[in-house]
Amino acid sequence: MLERLPPQPPDALLAVMAAFAADQSPDKVDLGVGVYKDERGATPVMAAVKAAEARLIAAQHSKAYVGPAGNRTFAAFLEQLVLGADHPALVEGRVATLQTPGGCGALRLIADLIVRTGAADEILIGAPTWANHHPLLTSAGLKAQPMPYYDITLGQLKFQEMLSTLEAQREGTVVLLQASCHNPTGADLDPAQWSEVAAVLERRRLIPLIDMAYQGLGNGLDEDAASVRLLASRLPEVLISVSCSKSFGLYRERVGAVVLVARSAAEASVGFAHLQMLARRSYSMAPDHGAAIVATLGSDPALVDAWRTELDAMRTRVNGLRHLLAEALAAEYGDRRYDHIATQRGMFSILGALTPDVVTRLARDEHVYTAPDGRINLAGLPEARVGYVAAAIRRVVP
Ligand code: LMR
Repeated sequence: MLERLPPQPPDALLAVMAAFAADQSPDKVDLGVGVYKDERGATPVMAAVKAAEARLIAAQHSKAYVGPAGNRTFAAFLEQLVLGADHPALVEGRVATLQTPGGCGALRLIADLIVRTGAADEILIGAPTWANHHPLLTSAGLKAQPMPYYDITLGQLKFQEMLSTLEAQREGTVVLLQASCHNPTGADLDPAQWSEVAAVLERRRLIPLIDMAYQGLGNGLDEDAASVRLLASRLPEVLISVSCSKSFGLYRERVGAVVLVARSAAEASVGFAHLQMLARRSYSMAPDHGAAIVATLGSDPALVDAWRTELDAMRTRVNGLRHLLAEALAAEYGDRRYDHIATQRGMFSILGALTPDVVTRLARDEHVYTAPDGRINLAGLPEARVGYVAAAIRRVVP
């Protein structure tokens, strides 16, 4: 049977990770994979997360199944974090949350749910987007339609084109949006632009699927959730995928959730039952450990405070690096072509419309590893290496 399969090229980002690991140069800098790193290049376990984990291990007496819906304390904490405790949808009981294996698990289950409703077979996806969005969502059977989002060459949003595309959609079309810290561009809509998008979605009766993977790493926990809260207050149905990978540093534990905002409590509960069935058919039971850590953390206000403080420091560091790199690039080029790096948010920016050859030369000749699309992870840039990286970019990127 297996002889029938054609060779499968490696995932492009995983290939960058492997190439970086194999590079013996002391100069090497990893701006590829999207994980937070400290000044030493390490991705440490956050102290508040470690403390919650220690408590969990001490208190846990069973590894029996938690069920397809996952940890309910985790779900309650997460939906308050995302929507804010007093959000009308929560107060009215129109929200249902299911724990998933990471944000990717949430995206896949949402895509399965959309297909299951029979109401939509297409999804509008901004361009550019995270490399795994298309495979994840189309594997469930949705057809992806492009929506202009960002001009890589100019380093700015294509907001009017995005609005016109939304205006032209038929009722019920699902639209993938990113809550904040846009991957791969770092270019987010401002509050006024989010209001305009909400108005079009409302008028055209479109359904947002919001991918929220970086809460707290852009402008703050509440600020980064403002888009989600706005859409959930303006629209009757909102599908939200949440990842705890970056905000809690729990990458390998695979912690995420689907947060469903429905028209009514009854519809939320039916949607939730379908999600449980889809999870059961796919991987059966939710993994426990990572979500139980978040639940333990979320149950102790002191740990929540400690976690917020650590997250604030991570965000401040990344935003500081944005300014340092923009300044260093301005000095190298003698112009301000990369100024948008300073004002964009989250871990990523794109260096421009780089050819594959330029991306290869940056890695091979300068030992600066970016994602294949020229995306850089600012968190992977030690402050001490900003000058080196700016000069390397200047040598290779015209
Ligand atoms: C990234 O964007 O680099 C991360 O989300 C890792 C991944 O799986 O692509």
